[in-house]
Amino acid sequence: MFKNKINKNLNNQLNLENYSANLYLQMSAWCNIKNFKNASIFLKKNSIEELKHMEKIFNFLCEINILPIINLNISFKINFNSINDIFKKAYINEKKITRNINYISNIALKQKNFKIFHFLNWYILKQNEEEKTLKTILENLKFFNNNKKNIFIFDNLFLSKYI
Ligand code: FEO
Repeated sequence: MFKNKINKNLNNQLNLENYSANLYLQMSAWCNIKNFKNASIFLKKNSIEELKHMEKIFNFLCEINILPIINLNISFKINFNSINDIFKKAYINEKKITRNINYISNIALKQKNFKIFHFLNWYILKQNEEEKTLKTILENLKFFNNNKKNIFIFDNLFLSKYI
């Protein structure tokens, strides 16, 4: 389907972004139902961002004449049991995305494919930003953990800074 490793991995990245968009939307729904309104807004906003990241790769692949293949079989077997669990899983997901971006960037460099390497630089910086935000949220969550009233303060006061 893909003639070379780099195109295959770029397409894989496109699908990881799509998965993230769906994952964060699902997380947003959970937060909404559990009355964490700001967390829900934050995650929905992130979901829309991930769709834009996906679109950026979609456009790039088309531009270099590679047919994007979108995985239509996304399934969720993930259960969320707390707001802490949600942000932990979001952080793990971003780490996975960073690993893939770094992996493709490394291939691009080895192959001296500077066009793709340059394209991926935007994602490297974005990942750094996203991981940093989620790490800060997780660290702050530790202070509020296991106390219903505090978690509500976390949602109202702390997360409002990020939406
Ligand atoms: Fe587009 Fe959060 O990775």
